Amino acid sequence: MTDSATPQREFAFSRRDFEEIRKMIHEHAGISLSDAKEDMVYSRLARRLRATGRRSFQDYLALIRSGDAAEWEAFVNSLTTNLTDFFREAHHFHILHDFLKTRRERPITIWSSASSTGEEPYSIAMTAVEALGGFNAPVKVLASDLDTNVLRKGREGAYPLERVAKLSEARQRQFFLRGVGDNTGMVKVKPELQTMVDFFRLNLLDPVWSIRQPLDAIFCRNVMIYFDKPTQYAILKKMKPLLKPDGLLFVGHSEALYHATDLFKLRGQTVYEHARSGA
Ligand SMILES: C[S@@+](CC[C@H](N)C(=O)[O-])C[C@H]1O[C@@H](n2cnc3c(N)ncnc32)[C@H](O)[C@@H]1O
Repeated sequence: MTDSATPQREFAFSRRDFEEIRKMIHEHAGISLSDAKEDMVYSRLARRLRATGRRSFQDYLALIRSGDAAEWEAFVNSLTTNLTDFFREAHHFHILHDFLKTRRERPITIWSSASSTGEEPYSIAMTAVEALGGFNAPVKVLASDLDTNVLRKGREGAYPLERVAKLSEARQRQFFLRGVGDNTGMVKVKPELQTMVDFFRLNLLDPVWSIRQPLDAIFCRNVMIYFDKPTQYAILKKMKPLLKPDGLLFVGHSEALYHATDLFKLRGQTVYEHARSGA
């Protein structure tokens, strides 16, 4: 798309600008942006141009190229898609519940590897409390993401009331505090649940990950869709030795691992376990 095709745009944005942005985010985060994402990229980054007082994408990209660390972080945060929900793909949490009940080894560690704003790791922690009978469940949830904004929100654990409306009354009462005064219309995750979850930044594309402990389960859901197949395979290969021999890997509903059957085999309902040949 050329500038002349979109005269209503506030900032000059050429095809070359889009290509450069696409290349940078692919190299850094593995995110593949299709041609259809051009308008989305424009509108998300236009906010950064306004915030930094730049008058064109060329100007803004010069700032990014100059190595401004804070703006680079804001640039990356702007280009991630963070859609999530509590107990998204509910069948995974039924499977996790039954799985946790059978675990004998302690402690139990579960990694939410694209945690977004926290709904997924908190759903894992709630499931652990329910399966293992209380907030003292010997479970630690590691919650990581590339995007520092979503990590901050996850750590804070405050959500608009509508976000938990689909949860049963019992769950809402057991796990959330209702906001009052200025916080009316908000809920906050109870501190007992919050302490079960550790949030930290981790780029799945980084050559070295900061995770050392053996994992009972890994949630890698609705993030691999952004990566090409070789990138997906490389990430799965790095996850494999972290997962205990009888551990489970949960992936999103559209992320079947047909290209990695030497690493993981389907157990059912987009839940995987080690393929024995490669374990
Ligand atoms: C659509 S959300 C999925 C959230 C949650 N897993 C779920 O299924 O509801 C995708 C998340 O992946 C994160 N992400 C994208 N690229 C990443 C990377 N290279 N490393 C780690 N996280 C990444 C994004 O920041 C975003 O929060």
